[in-house]
This record gives sequence, structure tokens and C-alpha cells, in this order.
Amino acid sequence: MAIPQQTIDQILDRIDLVELIGQRVKLKKTGRTYSGCCPFHQEKSPSFHVYRDKQYYHCFGCQANGNAIRFLMEYESRGFPDVVKELASMASIELPKEQFDTKKPTYKKTQTKPTHSESTDTSPAFKAAHDPFEFIESDHANDFTVLEESFTKEHQEGNLYDLLENIAEYYEQQLTQHTHAQQYFQQRGLTQKTIQSWRLGYAPEGWQHLEQAFPQDIEGIKQIGLIRTSDSGRDFDLLRDRVIFPIRDSKGRVVGFGGRALNNEIKPKYINSPDSDVFHKNQLLYGLYEGGKNKAQDWLMVEGYMDVIALSQANIHGAVATLGTASNTDHLNILFRRNHRITIAFDGDSAGQKAARRTLEIALPLLNDGRELKFFILPDEHDPDSLIRREGVEKFKALWEQSPLLSDFLFALLSHSYDISSPEGKSQVMAELRGLTNLLPQKGSYRYLLNQSFREKLGLGKRFTPKVSNDAALSFNIQTRIEDYAIALLISHPFLYQQFSSLQEHIPKEELLAEILEILKVLFDTLPEEQDAAMYYILGATSEYHHITLELLQRTNIFSLVDTPEKAFNLAQEYTLTLKGTYLRKKMKKPQSLQESQHLRKQLNELTKQISLQLLQ
Ligand code: UTP
Ligand code: MN
Repeated sequence: MAIPQQTIDQILDRIDLVELIGQRVKLKKTGRTYSGCCPFHQEKSPSFHVYRDKQYYHCFGCQANGNAIRFLMEYESRGFPDVVKELASMASIELPKEQFDTKKPTYKKTQTKPTHSESTDTSPAFKAAHDPFEFIESDHANDFTVLEESFTKEHQEGNLYDLLENIAEYYEQQLTQHTHAQQYFQQRGLTQKTIQSWRLGYAPEGWQHLEQAFPQDIEGIKQIGLIRTSDSGRDFDLLRDRVIFPIRDSKGRVVGFGGRALNNEIKPKYINSPDSDVFHKNQLLYGLYEGGKNKAQDWLMVEGYMDVIALSQANIHGAVATLGTASNTDHLNILFRRNHRITIAFDGDSAGQKAARRTLEIALPLLNDGRELKFFILPDEHDPDSLIRREGVEKFKALWEQSPLLSDFLFALLSHSYDISSPEGKSQVMAELRGLTNLLPQKGSYRYLLNQSFREKLGLGKRFTPKVSNDAALSFNIQTRIEDYAIALLISHPFLYQQFSSLQEHIPKEELLAEILEILKVLFDTLPEEQDAAMYYILGATSEYHHITLELLQRTNIFSLVDTPEKAFNLAQEYTLTLKGTYLRKKMKKPQSLQESQHLRKQLNELTKQISLQLLQ
């Protein structure tokens, strides 16, 4: 059964690997990853890790690794088609029907005699199809029937990818022959190098230029939608007198084209080739392949092809654009799989605002703990292309840098819609926020943290203000340890226990942090939803230490340190990893046995890997 790679990617995108594996193997959240004892080899301490963002598992013990398909195949000793079928149905994705299963992206070639020797076509496909002498000179030259059969067979099927490549080359070549098209790109500030690396081209004016250039591929060109048939039955080219943006899939294969009119009077401004067997706009991002090739780390979703290209020319390589459609879940997931933090740019006008709100609603359900979404609202009347041309790339970078995280963006958005100086306005904002936070994943602490940050911003939370200590000796020369920050963070944000829990096995019992984690472990499931209530609940439960905890809340200045949910997550993660390292190293100094020493060393190595993975992201 041949299942298109597109479909497989789509299935993998929709399956939550943590959930899938979690139903079969006991997993525990450790920072941004999940870990457990490896199901593929015998072990007592967990070295099996599942990375949700990457939809990938890896065992540092036995090196087992792979995606959801590989996992089920190995864990349940099942075959590929069987596993894919099950996953497809879990992801509600329809697999191609059996009779299409073996369908390759092919089309039927027309057998035409070469029109004339003056044919201007120089494409490789064209030349190959018209060079029968190769065969006559072959070993079977006497056996004409065999020859003829193999000739027809070989030449009657074309591959759509090859055809698209040949057409891209044709358009590129046409650009070199039409100065007005070259001038268009020049006037938009593109260098020769940019034009070449994006393989920009030109579709000439003629109504049938593709038919003339590829006479035996008309069937295929129709399949990819570049030749249309008019009501009167006449064939004509879709893209005429337009500059051409070839669209590549994530593997770099040309799969479609966008064509832009050479002046703004012509409508529509852009025409894209329609979806086809190899072109699925909903799952493609313009610039993704090129960005990956240039090792982009920071991904930015923009609106137009020209924005992507102009940014790349200014050495900003992670910009991608949808293909004239609104962005959807698949688009965002594609980017989230490359980095846990992504940015979406919007125009500053009201259409941009609307789009931002729509995207927000699509994005919220994807925000697992640790994922960050930034909103880059462009200054009025600008898109990234015009902004870098007018203001320079440094200004662009600075604005991008300052763009708000989801929590701040959401607050700005909602607080502009209501009068937040009145109690009614405040409660409307909170009501609307509740509607939006309901879209967030059930699991995870984001809901709680977002609510908390809103309440604080609206001045609803009776923010905890510990009494200022009068004891001068206390406030002087006290070194605040990272454990102290961790305690303050945990008490003020008890839901972060999930982030810290992996520390428990490493902390010496005599540390206060160990005690507090132990209390939280017991109480976690009963934490009140309301943020202030949760904090007071924990303060109550840890009351025997209250003289220390209150002092820590004040000394660490935790409430100003942590002003967004994203910040809270990041700090929790950072503290956990750092402290794990500290305790492991301490234990290493006095190992009980050689075996323990080896084990500790292994854990420390894993930790280092985890930290460097974190840094890479
Ligand atoms: P915009 O109209 O914002 O144009 O369309 P732009 O990207 O700034 O284009 P330039 O700079 O004038 O060349 C944004 C994107 O929307 C799609 C295209 O993908 C375009 O890049 N679009 C736009 C269409 O598909 N059809 C249209 O008629 C216009
Ligand atoms: Mn533009």
C-alpha cells in the first residue's frame, strides 16, 4: 500500500505521541519532555524520553528511537500498513482508497511527433521523448516489437514531480529572456542571487506557451492545473505575463507555482496553481524548505511570498508564508515541531487584527506546556517587505524582539475591547478570557497561569504582600540560593509542581524544597482552581515553615520577577535542570558504590544532553 508522504506527515502531526506512548508505558513529565523506563530493553531507571514537540522518542540506554509509526510497529510487532491504518483513524484522516493506493503522481503522455526542428523547446523531457535512436542502437535493435513496446511504455507515463521541475526551469529561463519581468524584480529590490536561489521566473504572455513548450505533457499540466479549459472547450494557460514564484515542498521539490501580476491594476494580484496530487496548500509553507536549508532557528509566519524573500535577502531566514490561504492547525504544528517558540506577524490594520484573533483561536489548543507564541503586530500600512525597505532590517529585528508573548497580546486585545477601569469591564474581560482559556489543552498549567496573570493585571488578585521584615540582620548579607527562588516560585505558582516533580528523587531530604515538593505531591490534585486560593492553600499546608516561606516570597521579589506564564514556565524549567545538576554532582563526590557512581555519571550525561537540547531550541 503506497500512502503519500503528505498523508503520513499529516497523521504524525495530529497524533500526540506522549498520549500514544503514555497509554502503554508509564511516563512522567520531566521538564519539556516525558520519560519512563524503556519498553525495548530491561532497565530500572528511566532513560526513555518522549519529545512531544518533535513527535519523537529516544532511549539513551538502547538507542531505540522513532516516531509514532515506528513505536507501534516495534512495541506491538505489527506491520506498517496496519499501524498506519490505525493511526489514520485515530487522527480522523482518510487514507486513499485501495485502488488509488498504488497511484504514483503520474500522468499520460501524448505521443506527438516533434513539431519541427525549429521547435524552441530545450527541456530535458522534451529532448528525451524525441530521441528514439538511443533504442535502435541498443542490443535488441533487431527485435522491433520488443523495442516498440518498451519505447511506448517508457514514454507514455510521466512523473508529475519531473514535469513540475521542467516547468520551473522553463519559467526561470523565460525570465532571462524578458527584460520587463527582470525589471519588475529589480524594482522590488531583489538581487540576482536572490532571484536564483528562490528560482524566480516568468510566464510569458501567450495563451498556450506551456502547450507549445511541452506538447506531450498536456495531460500532466492539466493535472497540476496550469492549463485550464474554457467553456468553449479551448485550452489556455493559467499564468500569463506574470512573474513566477515556484513553491517547493519540505523536501525541496517544486510542487506548485504562484504568479504575480506585473502591475497593481491587474486583478487578481496573485494567482496560485490549484491543489493537485502533489500540491496541498493546507500543509505547505512557502519558505520552509529554504529556511531549513539555511538552518533557521526562529520561525516567523508572514503573509506574502515577497515578505519571505525580502527577509531572506536581509539574512532573516526563518520567515514562511501560507499559500494565499489562512493559516491552520497543520501550518502551526509544522512550525512548532521545529521550535517551541514561534512568532506570527500581522498587519497593523483591522484585517490584521481579525486575522490575529482567528489565529489565536486556532493556536490555543496547540499550546502544550512550554510552547510559546509571539504576536508581531506590524506598524500601520506595513508588511515585512515594506518595513525593512523603509526602516531597515535592524529596526525590523528590534520590533520582532519586542513583540508580545501570547499572554500579553491577549491582555492587550481584550483590554482594548472593554473598559477595564470599571468592575463590569473587568468581569467581561475575565469572562471572555475563560472562553479562550477553555480552548487550551486540558493538561498543563497554562490555563491557571494565564488566569492568574490576568487577575493581577486587572488588579483583581489581592496580591500577596508579605510584611516587611524589620529584622535588619535578616535582610543583610543573606545569600539567596536558587533553592529559595524555586520555593518562592512554587508557593506563588503551585501548579508549577508538574515542572518541578522530577527533582524529587535528587533532593536531599533535609532541604526545605524537598519538604515542600512532598507536600505539593500529596495536594496537587486538590489545588483550588482560583489562583490566590491555590497560593493560600499551599501557604496553609506549609504553615509550619511560614516564617521562612513568607520571607522568601519577599526576598526573592518573585511577583515582579515572574510577570507572564511563559516566564514562570521557563524559570521552573531552568531551576529544575540547574538544581538536578547540582545535586547529581554532589552525590558524585561521595558515591556509595562503583555501580552508583556509574549510574550517576550516566544521569549527569543525560542531563547535559537535555540542557543542551534546551539551549538549542
Ligand atoms: P498581499 O495582497 O498582502 O500582497 O497578499 P503582498 O504579499 O504584500 O504582495 P506584494 O508585496 O504586493 O507583491 C499576501 C499574500 O496573499 C496571497 C498571496 O500568497 C500573497 O503573497 N494573495 C494575495 C493571493 O493568493 N491572491 C491575491 O490576489 C492576493
Ligand atoms: Mn507586500
